[in-house]
Amino acid sequence: MCGIVGYIGGKDATPIILNGLRKLEYRGYDSAGIAVLNNETKIEVRRDAGKLDNLVNLVAREPVTGSIGIGHTRWATHGEPNARNAHPHVGTTGRVVIVHNGIVENYQELHEELAAEGVTFNSDTDTETIVHLIERYISKTGSLEESVQKTLQQIRGAHGLVVLSADEPDKIIAARIGNAGGVVIGYGEDEMFVASDIPAILDQTHRMSFLESRQMAIVSRKGVIVKTFDGKPITPVIQTINWDPIAAEKGEFRHFMQKEIHEQVRSLTDTLAGRVDFEKGIIQLPQLNLTSETARKISKIIITACGTAAHAGMVGKILIERIARIPVEVDIASEFRYRDPIIQPGTVVLAISQSGETADTLAAMEEGRLKGATTWSIVNAIGSQAMRVADGYISMQVGPEIGVASTKAFTAPMVDLYMLAILLADLRGTLPVDQRKKLVNDLRLVPDLAGRCLERELEVAELASELKDSKNALYLGRGINMPIAYEGALKLKEISYIHAEGYPAGEMKHGPIALIDKDMPVIALAPKDPWYEKMASQIEQAKARGGKVIAVATEEDKKIEQLADFCLWIPPVPWMLSPILTVIPLQILAYHIAAIRGLDVDQPRNLAKSVTVE
Ligand code: F6R
Repeated sequence: MCGIVGYIGGKDATPIILNGLRKLEYRGYDSAGIAVLNNETKIEVRRDAGKLDNLVNLVAREPVTGSIGIGHTRWATHGEPNARNAHPHVGTTGRVVIVHNGIVENYQELHEELAAEGVTFNSDTDTETIVHLIERYISKTGSLEESVQKTLQQIRGAHGLVVLSADEPDKIIAARIGNAGGVVIGYGEDEMFVASDIPAILDQTHRMSFLESRQMAIVSRKGVIVKTFDGKPITPVIQTINWDPIAAEKGEFRHFMQKEIHEQVRSLTDTLAGRVDFEKGIIQLPQLNLTSETARKISKIIITACGTAAHAGMVGKILIERIARIPVEVDIASEFRYRDPIIQPGTVVLAISQSGETADTLAAMEEGRLKGATTWSIVNAIGSQAMRVADGYISMQVGPEIGVASTKAFTAPMVDLYMLAILLADLRGTLPVDQRKKLVNDLRLVPDLAGRCLERELEVAELASELKDSKNALYLGRGINMPIAYEGALKLKEISYIHAEGYPAGEMKHGPIALIDKDMPVIALAPKDPWYEKMASQIEQAKARGGKVIAVATEEDKKIEQLADFCLWIPPVPWMLSPILTVIPLQILAYHIAAIRGLDVDQPRNLAKSVTVE
């Protein structure tokens, strides 16, 4: 969704902002713009539709310079994605300019009110109402800070906002209401940064703090003053973000997605680091604050998430139920809050989110909290809302994920859920020591085994060339690998635009089997797990109907090799950990099909990396 970058300091703001916007491209956008305060007197704006390169070229033709500025990548909600609707938006006086994330829910009403006062609108956006409101209050109070405050109290919805005034050239004001994405403040030497997301400013500074809802920051080159909307001073907590800025670069890879797929050996190693004591065979997840007493009180866990993260949750359900014998439900976050869910005493609502800013997931957590549940999160983005509002969290430790299609942030939470299951069972006293040690020890080889799947990239790429012109694909799985069928299909459709369906294999005979013919590739997950025999017979059924079967199977499995037309191999692995491996060839397959089709793998059409609107 929309991205924001702001700069105030002694350097030229333009390259810093454009560079920051480049780092935010992954969020998904359809236009971009920049506003710079020229000589601290005049606001200069450049905006264009389409890719950031269009804006960069525009700025090269019509340069803007100054040491204070703001920039934005827009993901259209109100008004077409054209240059006119791109941010920044300047008010009627030309003295105030804003960039904004979120939706002004009472926009119609405010628009009518302002139009009746004689305000002329220059765009079709809801955002423009905000700048006119700020100007209206400035004409009465003379103060930018007070005017922003008053405006924020008038607009409904969730927002991230950054404002600049030519009449107060010593500051940028940033504010946050609710969950329309984060607002990050970056601390430099005699310079400060503002952004919607950490990677935008990571090559400028590692020292950052985060705004909470209903807080605003008055940022000058010397530092920041943070307040609540009612004027209560807040001392910001400055964190050192240890993400490597290089991790946010493509390096030798063609796309971020390919790089992130390959990073999984590393990200899985980091996922285990500090959590698993292989000598003692124990798991430690200190940020959950779990004790034997609290673990024993848990009567149910509701995992809530969206998209890929929800698929990780489905694997987690099987792991937690098997290992810890606690009932688990998996609820799609966008559905959870609207059906008045029943939350009984002892319920934990566990959210999974890479960005930690997904509006639906945050709302589901809030619903759980309001109904008395303990809330936990498994989250990647440090300092994100899902991390901060939870009673306890597990940090994914996979570093920045830039490709819109989630890969390393899918395998890591499955490991987190496996570790959580062991920890819960141990604390509840239901896991015999030898079993615990075995389960913990099984984790030891996971990163290396993932590496062995990655070594087979060329074999998978070969299959991708064969499947590149398919119109449809059916992914089948059972048991713990059923969510991997969903995930494989999601990966293919979102980046290659090929229609794909994931289905529980046992359900095939109740309908989808009618789809099978020679033109329908069937990707069947058939590793050596407890559902193996069932999957083998499912493959036979598909073959009997003329289907072309591609099986994800365990190396040396002669039976599946004979049954299927093509095999994607994974090394032998204990079944509970098998989804971490079976998904890897499917990630690679989707990647190569999309790359061969010449598509924008990292920024597929219509998609955004963090979905901060409903
Ligand atoms: C698909 C994908 C999405 C996200 C979903 C949730 O590849 O990335 O389905 O998984 O939008 O996002 P987070 O995890 O940020 O809450």
